[in-house]
Amino acid sequence: MPFSTPARACGIDFGTSNSTVGWQRPGTEALIALEDGKITLPSVIFFNFEERRPVYGRLALHEYLDGYEGRLMRSLKSLLGSKLLKSETTVLGSALPFKDLLGFFIGELKQRAEAVAERPFEEVVLGRPVFFVDDDPAADLEAQNTLVAVAHKLGFKEVSFQYEPIAAAFDYESGISREELVLIVDIGGGTSDFSLVRLAPERRALAERQDDILATGGVHIGGTDFDKQLSLAGVMPLFGYGSRMKSDAPMPTSVHLNLATWHTINAVYAQKSKLALQSMRYDILDPTGIDRLFQLIEQRAGHWLAMQVEDSKIALTEQDARPIELARIEPGLVAELSRGLFEDAIEPLLARIRASVRQLLGDAGVGVEQVDTLFFTGGSSGIPALRQGVAALLPNARHVEGNTFGSIGSGLAIEAQKRYG
Ligand SMILES: Nc1ncnc2c1ncn2[C@@H]1O[C@H](COP(=O)(O)OP(=O)(O)OP(=O)(O)O)[C@@H](O)[C@H]1O
Ligand SMILES: [Mg+2]
Repeated sequence: MPFSTPARACGIDFGTSNSTVGWQRPGTEALIALEDGKITLPSVIFFNFEERRPVYGRLALHEYLDGYEGRLMRSLKSLLGSKLLKSETTVLGSALPFKDLLGFFIGELKQRAEAVAERPFEEVVLGRPVFFVDDDPAADLEAQNTLVAVAHKLGFKEVSFQYEPIAAAFDYESGISREELVLIVDIGGGTSDFSLVRLAPERRALAERQDDILATGGVHIGGTDFDKQLSLAGVMPLFGYGSRMKSDAPMPTSVHLNLATWHTINAVYAQKSKLALQSMRYDILDPTGIDRLFQLIEQRAGHWLAMQVEDSKIALTEQDARPIELARIEPGLVAELSRGLFEDAIEPLLARIRASVRQLLGDAGVGVEQVDTLFFTGGSSGIPALRQGVAALLPNARHVEGNTFGSIGSGLAIEAQKRYG
């Protein structure tokens, strides 16, 4: 769209793993550099206990990995629509509602963007997944309302939403030269989102695009779920997951499930949980795994391990195997992770993603052969098995790779300018 002055409003893609802020300015890329010249700010807060201050993004990850004492908060977006949002956590001896964490992080995005723009933003288009919560419209609305309340408290006067995959569609549309029927597939850290859209250069400037959006859909499955399944399939068995009790009953799984999910790792360190494990130890047939679990808890290495699992998962997009060295738990201990093991572990999730795409096409009344283009974006869209599985559903579509981490923020910037000038 032709424009000669900077837009009044910005667009914010608050992601489960990474966030961006887009702002339309003549002659410049829309995405604002948020940290070290990079367009993404990882959606992470680290409360550094020594210096009694929160830090954000890559710096937060570095301080955490450098061994500063503190708490690392990740996947804040998945708190939206979850019961945890009504609860609080303890940081430096004070109760901190989880909801306030969202305000801290989104406030940081706003501040950084305003510092670069050298002006305040009072209007914002926030991206949202098609479903914050699957199959629960009331909880979904509550999640959106929470974001509105957070944004108002931060000083945004006008707050509106656009579906993330529609934003990605508008970004893609800014570079095409003929009409196309496009399936947008955005697989991020927390959700998989789809939209089927008719895009054309001459339609870009139209204010009303509802007729071009043939369907939107999604499922609450993303990279953090893939991490969890990889951990349960390839790492947790070394720590006793799947062990049998002397009674031949399976060992209870709650500790392993908690360890495989970022938000619940701290629960494993609680005294109550440790005592329960200690009393269980004597009833376990082979205590090798549970003894390693005690080591892991002793070292408070749960978050470290979760990060190793995610790193391996990302490496398995390029490589066939990527072991995790666990010598800090036990000399010579290694979790052998392979692409085959990962693909088997996530296949049930991939099947649900494919089913969601099929349903979307069905809802739109569009035949699979009619789709011209398959546009992939989001960090998890790189996973080969996922990509091939979705591509196989659309025999005639050519595949286009979006800007993995930037398409949505760019699209939201376009939308913000359309809505607020
Ligand atoms: N090469 C890769 N292969 C597999 N997964 C990857 C790769 N690179 C990044 N990821 C995963 O992608 C996810 C982050 O993607 P992205 O930044 O698009 O998510 P997000 O926008 O923050 O999340 P959402 O849109 O779901 O809220 C993480 O789970 C990360 O582990
Ligand atoms: Mg995203």
